[in-house]
Amino acid sequence: MKKIISLLSSLLFLFGCSSQNSQSNTQAEEKTIQPGNKQTLVAYFSVTNHTERIANFAQEILDSDLFEIVPKQEYTSEDIDYNSDCRANREQNDDTARPEILNHIQDISQYDTIVLGYPIWWGQAPKIMYTFLESYDFSNKTILPFCTSGSSSMGSSATNLSKSAPNATWLEGKRFSASSSKEEVQNWLEEYINEEKEMKLEIDQKALNVTWEDNDSVKALKELLPLNINMHEYGGFEQTGSIGSSITRNDTQMDVAPGDIVLYNGNAISVFYSRSSWSYTRLGKIQASESELNSLLNKSSVTFTLKGE
Ligand SMILES: Cc1cc2nc3c(=O)[nH]c(=O)nc-3n(C[C@H](O)[C@H](O)[C@H](O)COP(=O)(O)O)c2cc1C
Repeated sequence: MKKIISLLSSLLFLFGCSSQNSQSNTQAEEKTIQPGNKQTLVAYFSVTNHTERIANFAQEILDSDLFEIVPKQEYTSEDIDYNSDCRANREQNDDTARPEILNHIQDISQYDTIVLGYPIWWGQAPKIMYTFLESYDFSNKTILPFCTSGSSSMGSSATNLSKSAPNATWLEGKRFSASSSKEEVQNWLEEYINEEKEMKLEIDQKALNVTWEDNDSVKALKELLPLNINMHEYGGFEQTGSIGSSITRNDTQMDVAPGDIVLYNGNAISVFYSRSSWSYTRLGKIQASESELNSLLNKSSVTFTLKGE
């Protein structure tokens, strides 16, 4: 028995090594997942619950929906006894096998990203995964595959699966073991999670609506949160105060209007209640009327507080 197991493990290992083809249709760097917004679905197939465990971790981390691909005909332990001429082995050896699925995703159009999990069966995804992919239109969706296995790598399994959903964008997947931790899943997903930090502004403890610029200076500022800046009035048009360190800047000569927030000299923030012009880097604009801005800022000093979410 031991011999069979070790023979199988080396076979499994070989499967993994021989199929290390890189996936042609993958984009590892794409940040695609918005946690908690329900546009991501974790869908998985699992017989002995290893893949299910990883899928559950992914669902918790992403706060996404979860869908278990349930076969119409359940896989019994005899069906997956790979040392015999079992159902799983027969299906894997049959290119046309498409085991039926019992359940259906009601409205796939609500998802833009699908995290797709499956066990490795003889180096490949179980044929039911092909049934799944051929049951829906995945055009313009992103698929992030993962698998669990005894020892094999993901190999060519996702590349082969991708042929059944060629209009989707397939990201590079990852293989987990039965004992992989939630932290490992988190570390993997973090590469793909689009965690744009929110930045909230209060002036003298009054919360304000701000439209922030999408630039490197705003990104750098977010890294410094929370920030409390003691500002003083200057020139009859602005409040200004030091950040306490220098951040990246891209200054240009500009006209500024009430509500504008700018970076001055890379190390100070100015916020305007009247018009001026100088060389700054724009950071954002407070959404408030000129009179509101005037009563908020036209005083000797204010406390300017930036907080993350
Ligand atoms: C039919 C069959 C074939 C398998 N082939 C491989 C293989 O090629 N390489 C490997 O490392 N593990 C292989 N395994 C082990 C499974 O990939 C592993 O136990 C997986 O984590 C099971 O996932 P599940 O519990 O979600 O069903 C195979 C298992 C079965 C049932």
